[in-house]
Amino acid sequence: MQLTLNVNGEARSVEVDEDTPLLWVIRDDLALTGTKFGCGIAQCGACTVHVDGQAVRACSFPATAVMESSIVYGLTAAFLGRVSVANGAIQEGNFDTYKMLSLAQMPSIQTVIIESDPNKPGGIGEPDLPPIAPALTNAIFAATGKRLRSLPLSAHGIEPA
Ligand code: FES
Repeated sequence: MQLTLNVNGEARSVEVDEDTPLLWVIRDDLALTGTKFGCGIAQCGACTVHVDGQAVRACSFPATAVMESSIVYGLTAAFLGRVSVANGAIQEGNFDTYKMLSLAQMPSIQTVIIESDPNKPGGIGEPDLPPIAPALTNAIFAATGKRLRSLPLSAHGIEPA
């Protein structure tokens, strides 16, 4: 499959198997050897990279998990995403006060990555996050006839499962 990643602000495309751990995509396919291999079992942290703001152990993080991580962030933004400001400062300082969807609240995700026109925007990772809330609100409109024009959905009484 074709995988396009935003690496340090630069879009990079590679051809990889979808189960390839992200570490080997970074080291072998992108030739970025600063990310190290240590234990290979997600214990030592030598391979740690940031994916959508979260530190992950790339040795045990399949390439498709990059897309699934974006889906979690997109659904969280759609259902719960809200920050409060007081005295010019955001009040939510970390994930204890900015809630993410829990595993129990997440729907089952089946990731199918298909070929796309390489001359058009695409890839997995950051490109798949922005369409999630519009797709969700369009599905709500199709099912209910009610057009929701603001987020989070929880403010409209729509909660994740
Ligand atoms: S190589 Fe040790 S945690 Fe990934």
